[in-house]
Amino acid sequence: MTKENYQELAERIRTRVYQGSEEASIAIANRISDIIKAKAGKGKKCILGLATGSSPKEVYKELTRLHRVEGLSFRNVVTFNLDEYYPMKPNALQSYWRFMHEQLFDHVDIPAENIHVPSGTIEIDETRSYCDGYEKAIQEAGGLDLQLLGIGRTGHIGFNEPGSGANSQTRLITLDNLTRIDAAKDFFGLEHVPKKAITMGVGTILNAKEIILMAWGEGKAPIIKETLEGRITDQVPATYLQTHPNCTLYLDEEATSELTRIKTPWLVDRCEWDGSLAKKAVVWLCQRTGKSILKLTDRDYNDHGMGDLVSKHGSSYELNIHLFNQIQNTITGWPGGKPNADDSRRPERAMPEKKRVIIFSPHPDDDVISMGGTFLRLVDQGHEVHVAYQTSGNIAVADHEAFRFAEFAKSYHQYLSNGSAQNELYDNALAQFNYDPDDVTPIEIRKIKALIRRGEAISACRYFGIPGRQVHYLDLPFYETGKVEKNPLGDGDIQIVADLIKEVKPHQIYAAGDLADPHGTHEVCLRAIFLAIDQTRNEPFMKDCWVWLYRGAWHEYSIDEIEMAVPLSPDELMKKKLAIWRHQSQKDGVVFQGQDSREFWQRAEDRNKQTAKLYDQLGFADYEAIEAFRRYNY
Ligand code: F6R
Repeated sequence: MTKENYQELAERIRTRVYQGSEEASIAIANRISDIIKAKAGKGKKCILGLATGSSPKEVYKELTRLHRVEGLSFRNVVTFNLDEYYPMKPNALQSYWRFMHEQLFDHVDIPAENIHVPSGTIEIDETRSYCDGYEKAIQEAGGLDLQLLGIGRTGHIGFNEPGSGANSQTRLITLDNLTRIDAAKDFFGLEHVPKKAITMGVGTILNAKEIILMAWGEGKAPIIKETLEGRITDQVPATYLQTHPNCTLYLDEEATSELTRIKTPWLVDRCEWDGSLAKKAVVWLCQRTGKSILKLTDRDYNDHGMGDLVSKHGSSYELNIHLFNQIQNTITGWPGGKPNADDSRRPERAMPEKKRVIIFSPHPDDDVISMGGTFLRLVDQGHEVHVAYQTSGNIAVADHEAFRFAEFAKSYHQYLSNGSAQNELYDNALAQFNYDPDDVTPIEIRKIKALIRRGEAISACRYFGIPGRQVHYLDLPFYETGKVEKNPLGDGDIQIVADLIKEVKPHQIYAAGDLADPHGTHEVCLRAIFLAIDQTRNEPFMKDCWVWLYRGAWHEYSIDEIEMAVPLSPDELMKKKLAIWRHQSQKDGVVFQGQDSREFWQRAEDRNKQTAKLYDQLGFADYEAIEAFRRYNY
């Protein structure tokens, strides 16, 4: 793609980009508040179309704050929610009715009769007339003043999945499989996700006077690119927003990462070529041309909008060598530093020769999944490796698995006591398994699940050769809700992490640097570490502590982002897999499969092999697999 035909990619909807979702959400809440007040000033009702999902949570939190602290009143507000799963009881954990009450309605002064959320309990043959009634109610209220939207990875708005027409109205629809996979984490497994939903139509949404669509995190970046740069198509319903006269996309920086102007800015305009942009451009050019770095020519650069980069370096030869060396220097078999070696061009320091290391693992298996090979090398190279499991990971264990363990414990206790044990305690615990799935998981069951995961984690650590005293189970409280929905990060969580850092006084910290899901456990765990580092930064040992980020089970750093690449031999890769297999509860059909149907060990293997292949294609040595890290400077 050259600059000339960039025209094809022009962004077609107004955007506002913010550093983070919190800042963006505050801006959205302020806009909503302005509309509510303007309407109230005229003595009119304000008709809001509202969304659910992870994206609007911070908006609702800020609206609640505006109500409590700044007196914003919702008395003149009438709301219509976009959608609801079908069938769905209003009090079920996953119901949008419950979501809206918990996130907003219960905290503000909106009259109950002004609230409309499509009902998931209508008889199937009455849904048609029910949906017509919903549509009519919106019109009778005077039409939507503002519609708030999230966006699904299919490009759905509301639950208007690919194939939805521009004029579609409120109706019962069948959910796309991808949407159901995304929802599976809220339902403890794909098989429990409803197949249908009631949703406002695209036409209903487009009739709103103003539309705000928000998207946070890298996971949304590809669909945001399609929405903004793609042609209007029913295959990506969000592209219909291009036809609306007053639509704005509120995005955080991560959600813009696939936009042409961010990802390949040299195709759009002249660039300020700093080191990291040049690296990104050259890696892209190699992939584009199928050439290795040292084979790129002036012509390749000129043909792809990078002539000025070559001029800056004198020639493509100079530029190629410069970048080749830079990337070569990221590769090291000594993640803890190579003793007695010149470390001026190595990712890690040679001294101290033996380092104290903490590997923070958000769940009890991220350590081995994401950096098992590096973990093993650190131990083998004589460093004092501690692992800190930040959460218990209890909700990711299936009930049947926990039941099996509880039965086992009962039988074993019976055996040890020659049949004289009182089984009442066990029977009580086993009886808990009859809990209502719409409710939180009982504490007794969560305990069994947490113990299962502890057992798996210690087994993997033992296999890698670290003693039990170097394994720390932090069980951060924010995670312990017994629901998919977690509590906000609290001071107590941060303190636990900070205390461990002070106790171990590490030279290296490894942390899961996942930002793809801005509201997921990994991001919260990362924030806990960053805040704990803020608290401890003045301790003398922190001057000598480097922080390395790895990526979790979901995605990998791109080559230009990698600052330390640790190659794995076929044997090491095998050992890594054996360690992952110790996590039996996360194997063979897991509760939180995510968007990828492969097992965790397969994802890890594919990803590490893919990174090695990319290095090979750029002209570096042909390794079996590579684990990738990025340094966090605090
Ligand atoms: C929710 C809705 C959906 C979501 C979308 C994104 O009412 O209609 O379109 O907005 O699926 O969901 P999150 O925000 O959870 O990524």
